[in-house]
Amino acid sequence: MAILVTGSAGFIGSNFVLDWLAGSDEPVINLDKLTYAGNLENLASLKDNPNHIFVHGDIGDVKLVSELLEKYQPRAVVNFAAESHVDRSIHGPEDFIQTNILGTFHLLEAVRAYWQKLPSPVHGGRIEGITKADFRFLHVSTDEVYGSLTKDEPAFTETHRYEPNSPYSASKASSDHLVRAWHHTYGLPVLTTNCSNNYGPYHFPEKLIPLLIVNALAGKSLPVYGDGQQIRDWLYVKDHCSAIRCVLEKGKLGEVYNVGGWNEKANLDIVHIVCDLLDELRPMKMVSGEVVSGESKIVSGESEVVSGESKIVSGESKIVSGKSEVVSGQTRHSPLTTDHSPLSTDHSPLSTDHSPLSTYRSLITFVTDRPGHDRRYAIDARKIERELGWKPAETFETGIRKTVQWYLDNQDWVNNVLSGNYRQWVEKQYGE
Ligand code: NAD
Ligand code: TYD
Repeated sequence: MAILVTGSAGFIGSNFVLDWLAGSDEPVINLDKLTYAGNLENLASLKDNPNHIFVHGDIGDVKLVSELLEKYQPRAVVNFAAESHVDRSIHGPEDFIQTNILGTFHLLEAVRAYWQKLPSPVHGGRIEGITKADFRFLHVSTDEVYGSLTKDEPAFTETHRYEPNSPYSASKASSDHLVRAWHHTYGLPVLTTNCSNNYGPYHFPEKLIPLLIVNALAGKSLPVYGDGQQIRDWLYVKDHCSAIRCVLEKGKLGEVYNVGGWNEKANLDIVHIVCDLLDELRPMKMVSGEVVSGESKIVSGESEVVSGESKIVSGESKIVSGKSEVVSGQTRHSPLTTDHSPLSTDHSPLSTDHSPLSTYRSLITFVTDRPGHDRRYAIDARKIERELGWKPAETFETGIRKTVQWYLDNQDWVNNVLSGNYRQWVEKQYGE
């Protein structure tokens, strides 16, 4: 037997494949288009593993997918492949429509043709290989399809109405509907999971948590959209992977399972937690009048030092980081070339208990809010616990510590990821 996993050179897919092959000898056929978000370095440890078969290709390529299904006869397809970044979907929605909607449609069609040809189980008889009844198509989706909650509304259940607000969530909502329809109309044995925000190893630093870690270590500003009070429900990526394995094994056909860690936090709290952990694990050190942090170098006293693209000068408490400037506890910004120009705000990065040059919190910069920014997501994960017995293993405290430590221990991975393509994105989004 084997499974076909799509999008598994990305953040969650690669964690899923690594965990799968750490616990099983069942081969994984890994189909990935290797967009900017796909990174084979995530799977480098599988280089000599004969149970990992990587195929470079598109889920929308029906011919290729059909050939793979015929050749490897997988008992399941797990579909991670997607364009996944909300901000990119705002700048350019087309790829999202192409992969998340049309790609899923083509994938479903190839899988349906394969599944329809599988033998039916015979009572008392013996069939070599898998039968129609064994097969599963598991579609990995997001809580963002449910829209935005107010502060006091109950968390999303599986029956919450769909109200997607961004091009990303609308395209994922469309794919969920297609998956549902292929079950209802053709009987395709599908399962859908809708998960909250993930964090952990191999997370591409365009998303909040890895961006904070990478920027902080480089002495760059930590951009907080709007007032930073938007709430997300965070789950450690390995827990998402264990939930998917659980749904694949025990989930009821046609059902949807919400996956979450009961861990709602405001963005600004996340920023503070990451900064405080870095203060503990990689403090900015005073070395003869200089503050040195990782690869960045920040000088205090009357001298001035450039760290990456940011410049921090103490004494007068003047911090120039990227294109924003903080003077004596007040944020002042120079205009940006993008629509994400930093805002004037009374949330001063220096108005903390911490001395500006002893903490990464001094790098916090409030910037213009994301258009249509969803205020709050929260997952009610009772169904998967009640019906399938799944619960997350990590608390946010243990998971975020592991994550920060992973980025500290894997600077080479980070440096390789910060390629020309990544720099173009940062320029476009933050004007740095
Ligand atoms: P990611 O952007 O890190 O990875 C996506 C992967 O899909 C990349 O390897 C990319 O090369 C590949 N891909 C893109 N288009 C493809 C195509 N047409 N054919 C084949 N491969 C293609 O995304 P992620 O964060 O790992 O998310 C994986 C899935 O989980 C997505 O479907 C996403 O919607 C969902 N999800 C993500 C989160 C999260 O917090 N990251 C939360 C809930 C659900
Ligand atoms: P993100 O990691 O992009 O995930 P999503 O938009 O899918 O929830 O963003 C998480 C939250 O952090 C979201 O409310 C937007 C916010 N955010 C910032 O404040 N600054 C940033 O630079 C980024 C990338 C995100």
